[in-house]
Amino acid sequence: MNITEQKISIEKVKQSKINQVDFDNLSFGSVFADHMLVCDYKDGKWEAPKVVPYQPIVLDPSSKIFHYGQSIFEGMKAYKDVNNDTWLFRPLENQKRLNVSAKRMAIPEIPEDYFMEGLKTLLKVDEQWIPKNEGSSLYIRPFIFATGQGFHASPADEYKFIISCAPSGAYFSGKVKVLIEEKYSRSANGGVGYAKAGGNYAGQFYPTQLAVAKGYNQVIWTDDNTHEYIEEAGAMNIFVRINDTLITGPTSDRILDGITRKSILEIAKDEGITTEVRKITVAEVIAAAKDGSLKEMFGAGTAAVISPIATFGYRDVDYDLPENEDSMATKLKKRITDIQYNKTEDTFGWRYKV
Ligand code: PLP
Ligand code: COI
Repeated sequence: MNITEQKISIEKVKQSKINQVDFDNLSFGSVFADHMLVCDYKDGKWEAPKVVPYQPIVLDPSSKIFHYGQSIFEGMKAYKDVNNDTWLFRPLENQKRLNVSAKRMAIPEIPEDYFMEGLKTLLKVDEQWIPKNEGSSLYIRPFIFATGQGFHASPADEYKFIISCAPSGAYFSGKVKVLIEEKYSRSANGGVGYAKAGGNYAGQFYPTQLAVAKGYNQVIWTDDNTHEYIEEAGAMNIFVRINDTLITGPTSDRILDGITRKSILEIAKDEGITTEVRKITVAEVIAAAKDGSLKEMFGAGTAAVISPIATFGYRDVDYDLPENEDSMATKLKKRITDIQYNKTEDTFGWRYKV
């Protein structure tokens, strides 16, 4: 049934928590807006979505999410402009990617209108939760997980689709230091690396803990086969600038097809920056760091926006990136955030008014 034929019901909180939130000092994803969207999959179909107060979920211990990890998610942001209008950035890309992940994890796909109408209804109810200060936004987390029960190792027959939101500031605080990993792998050919599946992140936690203990923020993953090629970081795609060329690795079934990554590639071309999408070897990055042609490295993602990397480590050696007056990261970050916050013309047609 089309969502326009099924009303999205709204149950509002009795008392908003918004006054307890310090919007001038927001961390990332740790306080949650008053409401959430919930949509259940039962008897082979998605039921009508509901907006309800943000609340705990009660699940049977045999729910398959706990045992077999059928769980996928998305990350998006809502932005306020100076006129108090609300904007999303390429939301249909997130909806499509959620369904790419769903297919790979044998989860039923969510129809576009359930996702978009549900999201817009939720954002209207929780509009006050969208930060107005520059650099902050409402981080949106759509996710689907298996609620269906039983220890049989097979796809569940029931699922929940939820969207919850968190007013958020920057993902990283301070300088970003990454470690190029060559023992552990994030993903493999034929695996689930391209899906935004919960288990992809759980699998990164232990190697990342080891890197954090050495003073790094994130791991840069290399290919599982040879560990010779740079793939992506824990929560962002990676760009490398060698002299005046901006390079990022190609997407594959091991890498998340980042929406920020593909937007940055288009913006860079529009800015006249030479871009290359090709495999990047660890060896060329090390050589470029040594001869001074490695000018910049940065991560790109919804949460991370564009996060310049100050230092990268490889085989117990740390390499510091130079400070650049003509930083591409700074230029590209300004251009993309100006589009997101409706501060400039959007020639690409990416901005979406709520
Ligand atoms: N790579 C990984 C593993 C991520 O978790 C993310 C974040 O979503 C990205 C890349 C960047 O993707 P996007 O720009 O669509 O947020
Ligand atoms: C995002 O950038 O939206 C992500 O999903 C990364 C996340 C792991 C924080």
